[in-house]
Amino acid sequence: MKKVQIEGGRRLEGKVEIGGFKNSAVALIPATILAGDKCLIDNLPDISDVDKLSQILINNGARIKRIGLKKLEIDTTDIEKCYADYDMAKDMRASYYLLGAGLGRFKKAKVIFPGGCHIGTRPIDQHIKGFEALGAKVSIEHGIISVEAEKLVGTDIYLDVVTVGATINIMLAATMAEGTTTIENAAKEPHIVDVANFLNCMGADVKGAGTDTIKINGVDKLRGCEHSVIPDQIEAGTYMIAAAATKGAVTITNIIPKHLEAITAKLKEMGVKITENGDSLRVEVKKPIKNINIKTLVYPGFPTDLQQPMTSLLSIAAGTGTVTETIFESRFKHVGELKRMGASIKVEGRIAVIQGVEKLSGSKVEATDLRAGAALLVAGLIAEGTTEIENAEYIERGYSCYIEKLIKIGAKITEV
Ligand code: EPZ
Repeated sequence: MKKVQIEGGRRLEGKVEIGGFKNSAVALIPATILAGDKCLIDNLPDISDVDKLSQILINNGARIKRIGLKKLEIDTTDIEKCYADYDMAKDMRASYYLLGAGLGRFKKAKVIFPGGCHIGTRPIDQHIKGFEALGAKVSIEHGIISVEAEKLVGTDIYLDVVTVGATINIMLAATMAEGTTTIENAAKEPHIVDVANFLNCMGADVKGAGTDTIKINGVDKLRGCEHSVIPDQIEAGTYMIAAAATKGAVTITNIIPKHLEAITAKLKEMGVKITENGDSLRVEVKKPIKNINIKTLVYPGFPTDLQQPMTSLLSIAAGTGTVTETIFESRFKHVGELKRMGASIKVEGRIAVIQGVEKLSGSKVEATDLRAGAALLVAGLIAEGTTEIENAEYIERGYSCYIEKLIKIGAKITEV
């Protein structure tokens, strides 16, 4: 188990460059299976999920060449099957994209029932609903999901829940189905558009990504292409929150400001000064920040992945604020750890009521999931004294080179 130690109470100042978006990268890598050719993917984040997914593709016959820190050449010409068992994929949720990609290319795939963060039940009924609507048979035995189809025929699919995973997975499976597939009530997150752009660059015919209706006209074959992953708006938002929490002055570069509208608006509402400038923005705190109410929603609403780090910021803002988590049913595991550091937070169901306190004090705390780890990082940067975060490997799953990036803007943080 990895541990990091932070000496808090220091202002963050300087410049942070944002990497490629984890939640896009973990869909793009399985999507290369559809090409049956060489693909070049650039601006990949240097995180463990990218390595794990690459290894799964290699285990299935892909040849992968790393070209520098952020670029992979993925050749899926000789892949014959799409299989990911317990050991390969047990703690990674995104392994479910192998189902859609395997179904799309081979009309068959077998993948371990997805794991991932402990933030709720995280069912995949909508993924299965989509696959079955396309004509696949889905069975779950001994923890393995098997999908198989004689052929895939395009159809209209209405998602009962707005779900990123199912939207992307159905898009992958439908690229080479016969006829047209329409996904209604689709998720609109930026990485849905990123994956659709990649598929179209391979020769697919996907229209409407980024709206709640996506149309996919099936094509016979796809081919390799080059693509660059969009910047990670959740990584960017986390550093924006950290800068505000330490009353610092930080420029965040390599971003798409449009993707950050919700977090920018809420930080401005707190009194944080944010200046946008093309593909970068500057976060400064010139006056005391006040508490506000946050409600997580699907894009373009406030992202659920930022409510945890945001809770740390609200814990030292003046007044009372609330966080309402509408996406996942138990995404407040970080609250207990923040209370250990002196935060005053009460959780009732999906609402956390936060009473701003003067200061937090350093403590031994434990990360329970990726964004809870991010929340504890922010709290450790704020707190007086030393904070030690256990299970820090969770943080590495979504924040490449976070220790180096934080040190560069003045944090005192080390891996112990
Ligand atoms: C993706 O998870 C992200 N993970 C999550 O990021 C992110 O929080 C989430 O999207 C929402 O934006 C990856 O991309 C690997 P969903 P996913 O399907 O696809 C329910 C992080 O910290 N649902 O949009 O699993 C589900 O229970 C991680 O980077 C069904 O009911 O999210 C949830 O309540 C955490 N049935 C809601 O929909 C289904 O078949 C949204 O889930 C699928 C989902």
